[in-house]
Amino acid sequence: MAKWLDNAIFYQIYPQSFCDTNADGIGDIRGIISKLDYIKETGFNAIWLNPCFESPFGDAGYDVSDYCKVAPRYGTNEDLKELFKELHKRDMHILLDLVPGHTSVEHKWFKESLKAEKNEFTDRYVWTDNVWEGPEGMNNIRGISERDGCCGVNFFSHQPALNYGYYKITRPWQMSPEDPGPTATLNAMIDVMRFWLSMGCDGFRVDMAASLVKNDEESKGTIALWKKVRKFLDEEFPEAAIVSEWGEPDKSLEGGFHMDFLLHFGPSHYNDLFRCPEPFFSKRGKGNAAEFVKRYVENYDKTGGKGLICIPSSNHDMGRLSSCFDIDELKICFAFLLSMPGAPFIYYGDEIGMKYLVNLKSVEGGYGRTGSRSPMQWDDTANAGFSSASPENLYIQIDPDKNRPTVKNSIKNGDSLLNEVKKLIKIRQSLPALQSCGKIDFVFAKENAYPLAYVRSDENEKILVVINPSENECEFEIDAVEDKVVYQNGNISFKNGKIVSLPQSAAFIKIK
Ligand code: GLC
Ligand code: CA
Repeated sequence: MAKWLDNAIFYQIYPQSFCDTNADGIGDIRGIISKLDYIKETGFNAIWLNPCFESPFGDAGYDVSDYCKVAPRYGTNEDLKELFKELHKRDMHILLDLVPGHTSVEHKWFKESLKAEKNEFTDRYVWTDNVWEGPEGMNNIRGISERDGCCGVNFFSHQPALNYGYYKITRPWQMSPEDPGPTATLNAMIDVMRFWLSMGCDGFRVDMAASLVKNDEESKGTIALWKKVRKFLDEEFPEAAIVSEWGEPDKSLEGGFHMDFLLHFGPSHYNDLFRCPEPFFSKRGKGNAAEFVKRYVENYDKTGGKGLICIPSSNHDMGRLSSCFDIDELKICFAFLLSMPGAPFIYYGDEIGMKYLVNLKSVEGGYGRTGSRSPMQWDDTANAGFSSASPENLYIQIDPDKNRPTVKNSIKNGDSLLNEVKKLIKIRQSLPALQSCGKIDFVFAKENAYPLAYVRSDENEKILVVINPSENECEFEIDAVEDKVVYQNGNISFKNGKIVSLPQSAAFIKIK
């Protein structure tokens, strides 16, 4: 059952911005293939690839117009198949991005569903039965169809919501998830999964996974739906994995997801760590990780100690990790990210400290997110080695800073963030207790206090992790004896059960 997740460390690739091999200014699948050795050498053994399917790109590909066809700007289905093969050759895995909640208005299903005559796609989307009534709680598209009605949208106005039914039905046009229309939608999405899994993909990161069944306050309908998907996977593709963009692991894991993300929205307090005026990981030492830990432990307990909660470094929807931190602080962030349960997800470029670019004009529905989507910085050649197109033709501009970090410089500089990340990954991969399924017990996580300390363990070993991002010395007591320090950045002393952690330090210590 997706055993490979046990030690998976994911690298998130935004295909448009990774590596361009045909000088059109947009990254492509051949480009990803050409960088697999870098990814593997850094220590990653899995990839999450953002949507690479045919699309008018009104939301950077989250507006799919053909689920089973690679967008020509990225290459062909054959190229993607080749990527699967090259990854597997290196003992690596890949999750594609499944966008089950909505399509583009250009999708042929949607075009058919606009028609007045009843057809196979009439019930594929959430339609009311009269143009003057919008579906409650949703924005809608109206006035562009022959049929009488409004169509609900899931995100931007050009992303009509696919119809998986209503949990509580209050209007005559609403359907139950078991009705033929919603059932056909789910089967169509399962066919999409089957299509890519048969071609060699290893699973999916699922976009807006909580959004499918409507009027479903406690998510019971949506959980039931995902259980069906999981059953299909267990029967036909037992090694495949699904990871949800949901942010509530108690629900998503019950629905059968193998893992769930904590996100910059939702109840997790993830932002307290990295993205708020006084983040916990700032050296100012004024942050508070206690609320985060409280929620984490609640979820962890509810998921039966499975702990399959992924904490991303950042992603294409939020500011980059480096927005609030300098390199020393980032190293401590990574000591945390790479020592927590669940599979780590590192957003391309975060491993070298790439910056969020401010004040960029929105590209393909990116708006404020555009600054986190700039091209990967490989070396000191033109366009930082991303593309040989002329700079004005790049998908998004390159960070104009002369001192921008690059992979090439980071490899050379012994003190670089990249080298620290590599070291941390190597340690994680050598100690199963630190990997996805090792247990976690927090031993010091007090309100407005430092450090943060937890013990990761399995049946063979216990590893104490002590994280002190602050500029101050701090201490706490623990009933344990030091066995061996396995990782240390900055100083820490451990005597007679008392731990003193010096400013800006992180350590992993085997204990007895
Ligand atoms: C998710 C994606 C985001 C997209 C939205 C709509 O949150 O991560 O990029 O715009 O869903 O599909
Ligand atoms: Ca290209």
